[in-house]
Amino acid sequence: MEFYLDSADYEKIENYVEAYNVKGVTSNPTIIVKDGAEIKKLAASVPEGKVLFLQVISDETDKIIEETKKLMSLREKVVVKIPATPNGLRAIKLLKDEGIDTLATAIYSVQQALMAANCGAAYVAPYVNRICDLEMDGVKVALEIQKVFKEQKIDCKVIAASFKNLSQVKELLVGGIDAVTVGPDLFEKIVNNKNAVSASEDFISAWEKYTGKDHLDL
Ligand code: E4P
Repeated sequence: MEFYLDSADYEKIENYVEAYNVKGVTSNPTIIVKDGAEIKKLAASVPEGKVLFLQVISDETDKIIEETKKLMSLREKVVVKIPATPNGLRAIKLLKDEGIDTLATAIYSVQQALMAANCGAAYVAPYVNRICDLEMDGVKVALEIQKVFKEQKIDCKVIAASFKNLSQVKELLVGGIDAVTVGPDLFEKIVNNKNAVSASEDFISAWEKYTGKDHLDL
């Protein structure tokens, strides 16, 4: 199981990635626009050794390949996200022929995920909440993808994406998903459990009343 941070916010990346052993950072053009980021600065903001997923813009196969190579030159450990459109799948296949691993994004069905893996994608990103918005079960789709990959020993990692609430994240983690990528709001809710903070305050307060100190003095 792996956690990724779904963000292009430099400050959040700095605060969360190393501190909480996050595997890497995922982004897409919308996230970059929303966070007012720049691709080169984003590439520089991700700690060395962590994976950065950057997405292409074009939907023409040759341009996707060109953009992929440019994005990969920005730093070590860039994996390029390519929407699994007809041209995107072609690009994924051609890049794999050159030995380049990619992530097939905008995955909405098991069949599409299998096709992406068949074309050589090293990762797929099912869009959990966007599937739910289509009145289907996004959690179920992501878990079915994971199940079929495992059963058929398909060498493609599932990074579930597009979450709206913690319940979606929990169901996938319990269900054995390879990885989730979570935006800063949900990430903060996982890390900053109010009950844990309150319990910790109670411990300190009890100790302070007993010793007059809010820390161990051994
Ligand atoms: C991953 O990086 C995906 O692009 C992202 O999680 C999609 O999220 P959204 O559906 O909230 O745009």
